[in-house]
Amino acid sequence: MKLLAFAASNSKKSINKQLATYAASLLAGAEVEILDLNDYELPLFSVDKEAELGQPALAHAFLQKIGAADALLISFAEHNGSYSAAYKNLFDWCSRITGKVFQGKPMVLLATSPGGRGGASVLAAAVNSAPFFAGTVKASLAIPSFNSNFDQAAGVLTNADLQQQLQAAVNSLRDGA
Ligand SMILES: Cc1cc2nc3c(=O)[nH]c(=O)nc-3n(C[C@H](O)[C@H](O)[C@H](O)COP(=O)(O)O)c2cc1C
Repeated sequence: MKLLAFAASNSKKSINKQLATYAASLLAGAEVEILDLNDYELPLFSVDKEAELGQPALAHAFLQKIGAADALLISFAEHNGSYSAAYKNLFDWCSRITGKVFQGKPMVLLATSPGGRGGASVLAAAVNSAPFFAGTVKASLAIPSFNSNFDQAAGVLTNADLQQQLQAAVNSLRDGA
């Protein structure tokens, strides 16, 4: 199974990228590719920019990565209760090429933040909207208090209960659950 994982963040030290990378490693036997949104940076979307630029090659490239995957794992950074501007911008560009951005792929959606809700608001938005963009959400999980529950040096989740929940979420990609 080809698993495409990325953080919906453009932070170089993204905690969501750390989580997505770790979570993807839990899918036994999967061929994992981790994307970085910094490699898909586009001008701020507007209909005027679109008229000027058309369909950017980077948006096509991002959609092709999704299309080539068997499953997706995305971990969302929460900015003021919603998506990071970097993710929303890339998503908006992609959505003008096809409304089926997620191309029917099974997905696990995660979020984490240093706070006690772990990005629950952005995660809810992502879960609720995914079906409108041809995404099939198999499982979702917010990891609260990232700094207490994740060992950044080792790159692993340290909270046993959350580890169990994360493993189950990732397994849902294989179970067809
Ligand atoms: C502009 C901005 C807004 C933020 N808003 C929230 C928020 O609404 N909820 C939250 O839990 N954390 C919020 N944070 C803290 C982020 O969760 C934190 O920066 C986290 O590291 C972002 O994920 P990332 O490292 O993957 O980019 C905010 C951070 C920034 C810079």
